Amino acid sequence: MKKIRKAVLPVAGFGTRVLPATKTIPKEMLPVVDRPALQYVVDEAREAGIEHFVFVTGRNKGAIEDYFDRAYELEYSLRQKGKTEIYEALDKDTPEAGTMSFVRQQSALGLGHAIWCARDVIGDDPFAILLPDVLVKAKTSCLAQMVDAYNDVGGNIIAVDQVPHERVSSYGVIAPKGTAEGQRLIEMSGMVEKPKTEDAPSNLKITGRYILQPEIMDILKTQAAGAGGEIQLTDAMATLMKLQSFHAYEYEGEDYDCGSKYGYFEAVLAYAIDHPEIGEQAVELLKTRHKSLGV
Ligand code: G1P
Repeated sequence: MKKIRKAVLPVAGFGTRVLPATKTIPKEMLPVVDRPALQYVVDEAREAGIEHFVFVTGRNKGAIEDYFDRAYELEYSLRQKGKTEIYEALDKDTPEAGTMSFVRQQSALGLGHAIWCARDVIGDDPFAILLPDVLVKAKTSCLAQMVDAYNDVGGNIIAVDQVPHERVSSYGVIAPKGTAEGQRLIEMSGMVEKPKTEDAPSNLKITGRYILQPEIMDILKTQAAGAGGEIQLTDAMATLMKLQSFHAYEYEGEDYDCGSKYGYFEAVLAYAIDHPEIGEQAVELLKTRHKSLGV
């Protein structure tokens, strides 16, 4: 079984749900306390053994490429001033040369199309996809949990989590085979992108973490537009599922949709509470606010 070494991170989206913050800043670069949201996703992937990152970018996303480069003047100045700790923290996050690729998606044709744009870099390797809108806070990184499961069963694995029924229409939703209760690895009979609540086959939503075999690229090549008039990854996966082993994996952890105002706020709160520098203060602040709200 081939190791999962590569990950695709689609970062071409506009971030319309958090405008005007995203008018000049890519949504993936919005800070969650003191790190860009994207850095948490890269850390999650690294913990899962990912060695090469493929970013599918678009216009006005140059800040992402710069972020992963050296900031020569800044680093020089930090060293000159003896701010060694800050310099070392920056240095630690700088990727090794040659471990990041950037490909352009010139037109916003959908998530499936974005993934297809990475086909030449992926080649014949199984690969991971992480949607950087979604942060998953977990003891063991979500993708690392999935890679563990992959090492047992192989094939294709997608992360799922339960949502209230009234929210299923915002997501891809899976149809589990039989009862999915009490097990993390779930057999599936189908999946559908953004179903109407009444048509949804379950309340297990696809969370934005995937391990897929390279054959998905052949399917995406001719995939017709689906929900919202976009080329959907979910539709291509539904086809692949008929040809190869496919499992859903109910991971352990909390996910935050940083592409929405509320999800972003929740993420900032969750990461602030656990932050080594400001965690205690954040908790005190919340307690005081809670009291002042009179609840
Ligand atoms: C995408 C996927 C969807 C998935 C969701 C997770 O939708 O198409 O299947 O459930 O991400 O966040 P989007 O949020 O891009 O509309």
